[in-house]
Amino acid sequence: MRRKVLGMLLGVAIAAILLIGCSSDDGSENTDKLIIGKVGISMPTHSQERWNRDSAYLTEHFEEVGYETILTFSDNDAKKQVKDIQDMIADGVDLLIVNAIDGTALDEAMEEATEAKVPVISYDRLILNDAVSYYVSFDNYMIGKLQGEFIADNLELKNAAGKVYNMEITSGDTADNNAKYFYNGAMDVLKPYIKAGTLKVVSGQTDFLSTATEQWDLGTAYQRAQNILSSYYTDGTQLDAWLCSSDTVALGVEYAITSGYTGSNTILITGQDGDEANLKNIVDGIQTMTVYKNASDEAVVTLSLAQSILEGREIDASLTKDLEIECRYDTKSYKTSDGKRCSSFLLIPKVITKDNLQDLVDSGLYKRDTDGYLYAVE
Ligand code: BGC
Repeated sequence: MRRKVLGMLLGVAIAAILLIGCSSDDGSENTDKLIIGKVGISMPTHSQERWNRDSAYLTEHFEEVGYETILTFSDNDAKKQVKDIQDMIADGVDLLIVNAIDGTALDEAMEEATEAKVPVISYDRLILNDAVSYYVSFDNYMIGKLQGEFIADNLELKNAAGKVYNMEITSGDTADNNAKYFYNGAMDVLKPYIKAGTLKVVSGQTDFLSTATEQWDLGTAYQRAQNILSSYYTDGTQLDAWLCSSDTVALGVEYAITSGYTGSNTILITGQDGDEANLKNIVDGIQTMTVYKNASDEAVVTLSLAQSILEGREIDASLTKDLEIECRYDTKSYKTSDGKRCSSFLLIPKVITKDNLQDLVDSGLYKRDTDGYLYAVE
């Protein structure tokens, strides 16, 4: 028998106790689950590895403690995402976790959530609407900063002594609020070197808009990289680094480089996420680093926040203190509108290179196969 009990009345701890060792009259184990609430999870697309992994972690963690989950993927179509969220509200969800395709295109759905008194956690990407209760993400500016610092340190730009290094840039989707943070974080580190002439963006495509990749699409990143290589690098000009905001776009750039760059030097290529194909390229020396974001930890913080919201508890920095997850409570960095700052829980990312790939295996979230490559544990 399925019973729905309001999460507000029943703490998860109590639910867990009730679930443990439940047995039927005949003594057999009772597999019925006590449902303590219904949570809607709205993801942007199946087409990127990250969101498949994140949604698996989220559903696993929420279901483990007794929430029923509804999961939707909106095919990178913002209108579909509005409809998917509306359907979940109609379905009676107690809370929404939304990873926005376009942070500015969800007003209609957010209005309905407010009317239905359904709290919204903006997951990973910020929704620019004041209906958002809280934001859970990684420190997005820091991600860009780590990428920029990696390039600056590895090219030893501080001690370049008159040498000029050539670089290109591939940023993310302008509709994704994160993308500008990644770009700014990296460029705040690299701009002084560009100004000083130590670092040169040969294509001249340096600002956010001219380097952006709609929908973070691999094929789009590939095509733009191919154009840049054939227009500026076929005369023997050496390319030293390519700042890529994410693993998906890095993969596109890497396809273009392996098929269209004639130089023999190693090019520093950054990434973000720890996608399997990119980890393989790190092993093979094609990609140099990725900024890894432990999406399982992000799901755990999201669960803890959702429980606190649904149980009416006070929410502050203490939320994550027992979780053993590096996470910063930040009430200043993000705004959902001009006048409204959004309280955020920002996890800390980590640089992964060929030298510390084992850390991913040690986290238990990846395994190394006999081929030497890393695969996410299902
Ligand atoms: C996420 C990244 C991801 C990118 C493309 C961003 O909002 O924070 O982890 O690589 O979207 O999906």
